[in-house]
Amino acid sequence: RMYDVLVVGSANADLTVRVARRPGAGETVLGTDLVETAGGKGANQAAAAARIGGRTALLARVGGDAYGELLLAAQRMAGTDVTPVIVDEGARTGTAMIIVDPDGDNSIVVSPGANAALTPHDVTAAKDVIAASSVVSLQLEVPMETVRAAAATAEAAGTRVVLNPSPAPDTLDRELLAVADPLVVNEHEARQLSGRTGGTAADWASALREQGARSVVVTLGGDGALVLDASGTAAIPGVRVKAVDTTGAGDAFTGALATRLAAGATLPEAARFAVRVGAAAVTKPGAQPSYPTADDLAQLPEN
Ligand code: RIB
Ligand code: NA
Repeated sequence: RMYDVLVVGSANADLTVRVARRPGAGETVLGTDLVETAGGKGANQAAAAARIGGRTALLARVGGDAYGELLLAAQRMAGTDVTPVIVDEGARTGTAMIIVDPDGDNSIVVSPGANAALTPHDVTAAKDVIAASSVVSLQLEVPMETVRAAAATAEAAGTRVVLNPSPAPDTLDRELLAVADPLVVNEHEARQLSGRTGGTAADWASALREQGARSVVVTLGGDGALVLDASGTAAIPGVRVKAVDTTGAGDAFTGALATRLAAGATLPEAARFAVRVGAAAVTKPGAQPSYPTADDLAQLPEN
């Protein structure tokens, strides 16, 4: 196939300020200078895939503004084919207001802008690109009907679907869950979607598989990941790094996972590699500017 990974999803300009601590309701805190970088869960997955050498394309919408140009330039620099990206002159590019605390943890508010206008029609128009891709990678910052259309079109074309249900909805429809191979969830998303507040990652993964997911990956931050597929459960060790900024680390993981799966890796093999990509991403500020090349990964400790 022509592409390893086609990402269908969101693109945001990330407007980030670091703070000593998060403000409470009605409170004002002073932070650092504002930093504007390329983000958005979809665009992040694509950049991560392209940076490590995956043949990658992105289907997204940006506005006809400076942020749209910033996002397109970042994708081109990463090596993504941006031909499917639609520049929506009448819309503003999606933006994410991000605060990062001293531990590298973030709080994010997204204003969807042009992302809200990515429609099932846009997916239909790109059906040849979907069929020309080994894997379609999806997240939930664009309308749900668009995600459903992308999943259904991929399924019909025999293209594997990787789904990261983030931001986590209260529930995920069965048709969508049933094509996820894998469903990639962090601990929060795993609890929310499995409906189990207690238990372990293995419990959440088996609950999600019983609900219909073909395979499941639970990401565990510095502790690596838990993989569950038809051949069983595998615990993937973490890589110990100093976290500077975790923004977009999950997206880096998912983009890398999709790339390795497209190359024929098993799910545990792909997850082991993706853990390394996610770990590299947390060591530097921002989402896309922190994503590693294959060479950068050689600097990391083994896992
Ligand atoms: O997952 C991280 C991303 O979430 C950020 O890049 C921000 O744009 C939001 O979409
Ligand atoms: Na980072």
